[in-house]
Amino acid sequence: MGKHGTEYARVERDLYPTPSWVVGAVAEHLDLRGLTVWEPACGDGGMAAALRCQGCARVYASDIVDRGAGQDETLDFLSAQNPKLERFDLICTNPPFGQRGRLATAFIEVGLQRLRTPGLLALLLPCDFDSAKTCARCFGDCPHFAAKIVLRERVVWFRRDDGIRAAPKENSAWFLWQRSPLRLRHAPVILYAPANAAVELPYDGNVDFDRSINACYAAIRDRVAAGGRGWKPK
Ligand SMILES: C[S@@+](CC[C@H](N)C(=O)[O-])C[C@H]1O[C@@H](n2cnc3c(N)ncnc32)[C@H](O)[C@@H]1O
Repeated sequence: MGKHGTEYARVERDLYPTPSWVVGAVAEHLDLRGLTVWEPACGDGGMAAALRCQGCARVYASDIVDRGAGQDETLDFLSAQNPKLERFDLICTNPPFGQRGRLATAFIEVGLQRLRTPGLLALLLPCDFDSAKTCARCFGDCPHFAAKIVLRERVVWFRRDDGIRAAPKENSAWFLWQRSPLRLRHAPVILYAPANAAVELPYDGNVDFDRSINACYAAIRDRVAAGGRGWKPK
């Protein structure tokens, strides 16, 4: 299921924690080491922790709500309030989506206003978020739009507790904007990550457990025979 669909009740304030591999994916193309990063919608702090693991020198975490996860400040990113952080190289988050993506669009616009030069904005959004004509000013018509990193794996936003494997339907991408002192304008680039997408095993115990588990063993044997790793747990 997708977190942006209208068929499910929304989680309060759009709190959907991002798995750490998603931050690993952006780090394949963006060297995070030594950067001072502002995570302005930190939720329970998972993305901030993953950014620290990628070698960021400092991660300043804020959110409109204090969930007691040790954030640095409670701050509405869309307000005029400035963070108690003197300088930052990068603003990075998975923003709240809101009705028809309005909050996500506001995060792009306010993020660009809050960026210093030089500075980077990285937001995790639905993969087709740049296709809406109404958002052209944030993407195709925006001189700061620098790159889109398409995720080759789908993010599991909802953990199931009924034993059935989650099968997310939504594709996501990182979108990157850069404020640079250069007056040159480069066309945005499309990149892909993670480099080695984990191939899902064909397990579906709901259909037929024996057949399903044998299909998994066969897939692992094929993978090892092809010189790959047998099984990559997530
Ligand atoms: C999709 S969650 C992302 C949590 C975290 N960044 C992550 O990736 O694990 C969105 C977060 O945005 C926060 N939020 C919603 N509106 C906000 C605002 N105006 N300013 C700051 N944070 C906001 C919510 O409280 C929620 O924690």
